[in-house]
Amino acid sequence: MTATHTDQDFSLRLRKETGRAHRSAEGAGYLASLTAGELDREGYALLVAQHYFIYEVLESAAEAMRADPVAAPFAARELTRLPELAADLAFLLGPDWRDRIEATPGTRDYTARMTATCFDDPAAFVAHHYTRYLGDLSGGFYIGDAIRAGYDLDVDGVRFYRFDALGDPGEFKTRYRALLDAAPWDRAVQDRLIDEVLIAYDLNNRVFADLHRLTSS
Ligand code: HEM
Repeated sequence: MTATHTDQDFSLRLRKETGRAHRSAEGAGYLASLTAGELDREGYALLVAQHYFIYEVLESAAEAMRADPVAAPFAARELTRLPELAADLAFLLGPDWRDRIEATPGTRDYTARMTATCFDDPAAFVAHHYTRYLGDLSGGFYIGDAIRAGYDLDVDGVRFYRFDALGDPGEFKTRYRALLDAAPWDRAVQDRLIDEVLIAYDLNNRVFADLHRLTSS
């Protein structure tokens, strides 16, 4: 039997109720300049650096959550981005990249929020996990293509956008949505998860606003 979505499906409600927040993230000024190829490589590296700080916390939360029966299936190891981000930064900034990167205020708030919520609250962890990785596996491909074209990059510097170990991204997202639909969350927990996704979008927008200021002054 083929699975069909109904209004009861949590994955569908989550997508619907965060659609507006998604559109505002898509319209961020920094992303528009980045994908139009209007920045230089240093301007692009600023985003890679923020991603490094963000995934450092998210992926250590994933490690902790692999012990949780509900959160563990979401935390697929094939998603792991931190080694790719380190390689991209080494290529873009050189071997001393770790001393040359700095979290913006928005990034510091983002990582503080994840540190406070994602290590002991499976629903909050899934909210942050969903916002980043399902985005990376959707619009992220478009962003990666635009960066490759706009900054004359091929593999080095843009490894973050390649999920070689994952298999077909469409099938992965279908399985991910099935996990969202099957998770044993009551309505109150689902609502809390949706609220946390809205917070995650807001934090992503704050990071983009910081980067817009840094690259347009
Ligand atoms: C230029 C920027 C962006 C474009 C063009 C874009 C485009 C898209 C598209 C076309 C989808 C639907 C894919 C599908 O149904 O399989 C999608 C889904 C998604 N995007 Fe984006 N996106 C962008 C930026 C972002 C940002 C900045 C975030 C968050 C940090 C994000 C998070 C998500 C999430 C979580 C989903 C999954 C929604 C769901 O199906 O539940 N996107 N994006």
